[in-house]
Amino acid sequence: MIRFDSVTKEYPDGTVAVGGLDLTAPDGKITVLVGPSGCGKTTSLRMVNRMIEPTGGRILVDDKDTAKMDAAELRRGMGYVIQQAGLFPHRTVADNIATVPRLLGWDRRKSRSRSLELLERVGLPGEYADRYPHQLSGGQQQRVGVARALAADPPVMLMDEPFSAVDPVVREQLQDEFLRLQSDLGKTILFVTHDIDEAVKLGDQVAVLRVGGQIAQVADPATLLGDPHDDFVADFVGRDRGYRGLGFRTAPVLEPSPEPTVRLGAGVDEVRRSGDQWLLVADDDNRPLGWVEPSRITAPLVTEDLHRGGTVAVLGGSSRAVLDAALSAPSRRGVLVDDDGRLVGTVTLAEVAAAIEQAVGRGKR
Ligand SMILES: Nc1ncnc2c1ncn2[C@@H]1O[C@H](COP(=O)(O)OP(=O)(O)OP(=O)(O)O)[C@@H](O)[C@H]1O
Ligand SMILES: [Mg+2]
Repeated sequence: MIRFDSVTKEYPDGTVAVGGLDLTAPDGKITVLVGPSGCGKTTSLRMVNRMIEPTGGRILVDDKDTAKMDAAELRRGMGYVIQQAGLFPHRTVADNIATVPRLLGWDRRKSRSRSLELLERVGLPGEYADRYPHQLSGGQQQRVGVARALAADPPVMLMDEPFSAVDPVVREQLQDEFLRLQSDLGKTILFVTHDIDEAVKLGDQVAVLRVGGQIAQVADPATLLGDPHDDFVADFVGRDRGYRGLGFRTAPVLEPSPEPTVRLGAGVDEVRRSGDQWLLVADDDNRPLGWVEPSRITAPLVTEDLHRGGTVAVLGGSSRAVLDAALSAPSRRGVLVDDDGRLVGTVTLAEVAAAIEQAVGRGKR
């Protein structure tokens, strides 16, 4: 557990970067610090491993005052990942990852095998071990940065905008991989970003800061989106917050109706007989492939006949996914599948809306 207890940082020029911060980052969870540029996120993070010394208050790690600990030792117990990975350019990938193990006195062989194990963990092939950072893409460098921070298996990870220097598609991949990794490792993570979407996606708990390093609100993502504390938080959380909040609420209770399907290759008569305005096509394992319009079919069904716009939602998944499935289906019937992707049935837009209304309550508090 990391606890900020009235922590202040005033720089020599009088800038108060952090003004009396109180915050607890619980064990095994991701706590995100989010806020506009200059609000003191990096300063707060770097005070935890004492790369910056606070000018007031205390930071406790597992109830121990970090000011009384040896700074080098403190740092070795905390993985630190920064924007653009910050890899050593003249060291190979494996040597970069082994930085802390080597400092801890592990021998070459053990460090090397740890590097290889971690490369695999972060989704990079073992051949990359002997490359240099400039031979990797930005996203791959970030993965190495994460591997390096994990090398000595520290209980705490400090991450400062680790995914912000890559394009949005790679960023999403890195976020998904990071969440998978964390579900295995259960580290205590303090994660800094200025991106609210990243904050609500990754955070178990999100602290919104305003300039001057003061907390505007600390809450779980659903609460932050559904009940921002004031105008500053509401503005910062942004548009579509009602809809985005549906992604975090408990799943709506749905009773899917059976949906007739046909297979690819079905003849014109069969298609016209089975379907009304829109007919669902599934494969031999009953996995949905797409919708077709029976009236437009003039020859046995082929892949090109499929309408590809519809999304599918997993039964028991979020309201947001189910609503999207219903809205995106040309039939306006949301396709629901089980965990293996097999068709369970469909729900109409009206049924989804009613279930969401049930799930969020009818305006009572
Ligand atoms: N060494 C320094 N001396 C004086 N002021 C500083 C120093 N380092 C940072 N600051 C100021 O402290 C404030 C907080 O800086 P910090 O880097 O913590 O912000 P941040 O929230 O990480 O911003 P960003 O999102 O842009 O990274 C800013 O006003 C910054 O200009
Ligand atoms: Mg910063």
